[in-house]
Amino acid sequence: MDRYVVTLGRFILEQEREHPGATGALTNLLYDLTQAAKLIHREVSKAGLVDILGKTGKGNVHGEEVQKLDEYAHEVVFNAMDHGGNLCVMASEEEEGLLQIPEQFPTGDYVLLFDPLDGSSNIDANISIGTIFSIHKRCTEGRDGSLEDCLQPGHRQVAAGYVMYGSSTVLVYTTGSGVHGFTLDPSIGEFLLSHPEIRIPEPGKRIYSVNEGNFSTWSTGQQQLVEWFRGTGGNGGGGFSHRYVGSLVADFHRTLLYGGLFLYPADNRNPDGKLRLLYEASPLALICEQAGGRAIDGSREILAIEPESLHQRTPLYMGNREWVDLAERTLAGEGMAVGR
Ligand code: AHG
Ligand code: MN
Ligand code: MN
Repeated sequence: MDRYVVTLGRFILEQEREHPGATGALTNLLYDLTQAAKLIHREVSKAGLVDILGKTGKGNVHGEEVQKLDEYAHEVVFNAMDHGGNLCVMASEEEEGLLQIPEQFPTGDYVLLFDPLDGSSNIDANISIGTIFSIHKRCTEGRDGSLEDCLQPGHRQVAAGYVMYGSSTVLVYTTGSGVHGFTLDPSIGEFLLSHPEIRIPEPGKRIYSVNEGNFSTWSTGQQQLVEWFRGTGGNGGGGFSHRYVGSLVADFHRTLLYGGLFLYPADNRNPDGKLRLLYEASPLALICEQAGGRAIDGSREILAIEPESLHQRTPLYMGNREWVDLAERTLAGEGMAVGR
């Protein structure tokens, strides 16, 4: 059968059958998430038409201007996920504390952590934005989940994924058996398998992706690394293209499909970097590693970091192993010896 006819629902079920112990709970979770994605896709698609743009004037926990679409996406995901009986707790980038399951609904064995709308500064310019999600199995007992259930290292995720609302809406996820991409066919409201078994190309395209505007705030090692990519540091290198969208989901999706290195380093204003460990770095690191790449905070594997707080930030380097390894060595002061 033509691969484009495989719906997400069928694919998830086939994946579930490969795991004899599967209860179907994770299948239902993923399916519920796609329903939220379709609603957010609809609003994003007409955001330019309906007065959903513009600022609410309220800041979120990070003190950033919250766009109406951030709040809408947060509510859509919560309302899609709170009643299925598969979750014991949720946490969102847009909420300071835990999101407990309303008492009228049953709870389940899973935990959902999500960035409801990633790249919100790009909404008004109609640049690709996204939703990122991370799913863990709970590690506590009782009806309601707790902070401990949310603060688990990334290697324990049972699923991770993102939706990118771009020229088309794509969903990419992993449950630990490879990375698979689906494209939404709005005419039938179905995500159809379009990118089975995604692997980061080796060798990848020579692309580095960073906000060069922060150059002066970086450490010496970090500046050396980017000067190598530029070919301006007198230490070889060069021959790279620089690409930076400013929406993590878009920059990561390009890195996943084309190769290269995405980096959001620490700087003298954000010593822990800007990106969030639980809702951005950890889920994308799982996808990156499942696709054959690597993801570190500069020295540690992202998936090995033991989270200490819900909104913890981390520096992030992810993409082709070759370039992540180079970043690690350079930041450790081990010079710029590179394979090619
Ligand atoms: P969010 O919209 O969820 O707050 O995420 C924005 C993040 C991420 O999408 C992107 O990689 C990064 O902000 C861009 O930051 P700069 O504008 O500082 O480069
Ligand atoms: Mn984000
Ligand atoms: Mn966000």
